[in-house]
Amino acid sequence: MEQKIIFGDVYRNKKVLVTGNTGFKGSWLCTWLISLGADVFGISNAIPTNPSMFQELGLADKMKHYFADVRDLGEMRKIIYEIEPDFVFHLAAQPIVSLSYSEPVDTIATNVMGTTNVLEVLRNYTKPCTAIIITSDKCYDNVEWIYGYKETDAVGGKDIYSGSKGAAELIFKCYYHSFFKKEGGTVQVASARAGNVIGGGDWALDRIIPDCMRSWSEGKVVEIRSPKATRPWQHVLEPLSGYLQLGERLYRDHTLNGESFNFGPKPEYNHTVQEILEDMSLRWHFENSKEAYQVTGDIKFYEAGLLKLNCDKALFHFQWKPTLNYHTLIEYTSDWYYEFYKNSGNMFSYTQGQIEGYENLASQAHLVWTK
Ligand SMILES: NC(=O)c1ccc[n+]([C@@H]2O[C@H](COP(=O)([O-])OP(=O)(O)OC[C@H]3O[C@@H](n4cnc5c(N)ncnc54)[C@H](O)[C@@H]3O)[C@@H](O)[C@H]2O)c1
Repeated sequence: MEQKIIFGDVYRNKKVLVTGNTGFKGSWLCTWLISLGADVFGISNAIPTNPSMFQELGLADKMKHYFADVRDLGEMRKIIYEIEPDFVFHLAAQPIVSLSYSEPVDTIATNVMGTTNVLEVLRNYTKPCTAIIITSDKCYDNVEWIYGYKETDAVGGKDIYSGSKGAAELIFKCYYHSFFKKEGGTVQVASARAGNVIGGGDWALDRIIPDCMRSWSEGKVVEIRSPKATRPWQHVLEPLSGYLQLGERLYRDHTLNGESFNFGPKPEYNHTVQEILEDMSLRWHFENSKEAYQVTGDIKFYEAGLLKLNCDKALFHFQWKPTLNYHTLIEYTSDWYYEFYKNSGNMFSYTQGQIEGYENLASQAHLVWTK
């Protein structure tokens, strides 16, 4: 069988800093980077949930973790200068839409000033470094149209979370134009925008899959608000493959400095909440979906409607595409939680196994990042 070379092997023996490493996406990203042979470092202010993927995988023993607040510029500078990273993936954020209503100032401070502080530290950094700033598809001014949003569309947002991510993108752009654009600069920056993701190991509040898994693990029926709502579902490994490929490309090709990229699912991945729960409940061996979920009319807060991403730019520049089909997405997600709750397996090995399976599927699909 042909030997896989994942992301051109650029992460091997490199110092890679992941902010937000104790969170859902951060834990998956660190696990992947460890598998890729990177020397992984993390900065987060807390362990955001209980249980948490960070703890269940024992990541504190497999990487160097710093507890710090991204809002504290002095502390961020001290730690980043101590680590001397070759790559930075900035994921630390307050990402919960419902919490952004009860804690708007904290959300804005973390998402906007946190991003500013990371860029501010990097602007005086003298070692070559590639930094990927992770925002969200919610950074776009959602005008509720049916077309996919392109990287050149206006940023904005009617709710606090979306506005904070739009603002983080504006900060990214003005830091690029003011400081990182200069020729021969040591730090290259890009931003990455992806939508809602699912996958094992998420226990965040007010997200449908974690709500569902918590209930099912206790033998309870999950309550859902909008069964017919359609979401562009994608597995967490899909945007992470985009972030890692973008990091690799930016490291090699400085003409991508200052660019933003969308990483979204294929349009045919749109399924209703009800379809997803039906399919997941089958893998959890429910005989009747009525035992798995029930519909309530209670909608707690405003959340923007369907927002599609146009991902042609990532396809054009580095042939990035999603890997999993809908059925594999369901299998990967339900089986991870099933393994955790019902089999009490070693979740670090299990997660590495899913990552390897994902790399194999991407390789069979001849995706460029596997060659
Ligand atoms: N999960 C999704 O569906 C999704 C979708 C689009 C974008 N995103 C973005 O991806 C990133 C990661 O999301 P996630 O789902 O893993 O979130 P998460 O809540 O699981 O993790 C957030 C991480 O940020 C850290 N953090 C929060 N406030 C901090 C602070 N003040 N200082 C230092 N660290 C702080 C937390 O400790 C945690 O490690 C976020 O930027 C989020 O906006 C997530």
